[in-house]
Amino acid sequence: MSAGNLMQQKDLSQRVPHRVLDRVLTMELARVTERAAVAAARLRGHGDEKAADQAAVDAMRSELNMLPIDGRVVIGEGERDEAPMLYIGEEVGTKNGPAVDIALDPLEGTTICAKNLPNSLAVIAMAERGNMLYAPDVYMDKIAIGPGYPDGTIDLTDPPAENLARVADAKGVKVSELTACIMDRPRHAKLIEEVRATGAAIRLIGDGDVAGVIHTTDPLQTGIDIYLGIGGAPEGVLAAAALRCTGGQMQGRLILNTLEKVARARRMGVDDENRIYDMADMASGDVLFAATGVTDGNMLSGVRFMREAIVTHTVVMRSSSRTIREIKATHKDMEKFG
Ligand code: FBP
Repeated sequence: MSAGNLMQQKDLSQRVPHRVLDRVLTMELARVTERAAVAAARLRGHGDEKAADQAAVDAMRSELNMLPIDGRVVIGEGERDEAPMLYIGEEVGTKNGPAVDIALDPLEGTTICAKNLPNSLAVIAMAERGNMLYAPDVYMDKIAIGPGYPDGTIDLTDPPAENLARVADAKGVKVSELTACIMDRPRHAKLIEEVRATGAAIRLIGDGDVAGVIHTTDPLQTGIDIYLGIGGAPEGVLAAAALRCTGGQMQGRLILNTLEKVARARRMGVDDENRIYDMADMASGDVLFAATGVTDGNMLSGVRFMREAIVTHTVVMRSSSRTIREIKATHKDMEKFG
């Protein structure tokens, strides 16, 4: 079955009605990201992105296949012909459980991990089938803020200065007291110039915009108020899933700037190339999300290898209850981690 056939894009106005996934699955997802994070962390700082990614993929896949779900990967390692494992459309789980769609990135920030820099993560999100955007592997223009702002505070179609002014106003600070997170890329030269012209500070990150978006949800801890700029569309869906659980606002627009990308998006069911997706368009219904730190980061510590245990730091969240749990796990049964 080709990914194109499989990915009949949902009609976003006719989503699967909201139901609630078994809450035990939330904790099961922690096991999945823990396994992937530990596998990647063994190769952290070794300068080999591919090896670390492969280790994380193998570990995540084997743990995922133990879950009591009838799972289907909708955001994964790529299309079937380019990714041997956890490809888009791959079926995962024991089949004895709910039909779910899964977005995953066993190692988000492969370069960060290879260089042992902050904020690489093992990430997964799950929703009932039909509730996640089947985003093609193209770029997405994104804007995001954390919870507590009035609806409509951000608008992707407005210039950065207007968005920053509304955020500052709602937060009760000056624009010059805000910090925007932006990926350090030549494509962002104009954006960076425009944000700097407002007086706001910029945190330039080398990679890892799932973490970049999530960091807006806790400015006190991370120092980041808003995320702006272009990153991967799959990462956009993962970040939107996290924000559905924490609260916050996010919009994204696919960058379909070649005929080939338009055709690819069409095959995945995208019928409006200019559509602006909000958070619920990207992940709706009851959404579960888990991330484990691979390297140390602003919100999650990286994996620690000790003589008698491996220690992991994970956040698991659920949109229907808005519960956010941080799990600092001490794994004494180290053999299961290989
Ligand atoms: P990988 O984990 O695949 O290396 O992705 C890292 C990442 O920085 C994402 O967080 C981001 O969305 C994307 O790459 C940006 O792509 P590019 O490096 O092409 O600007």
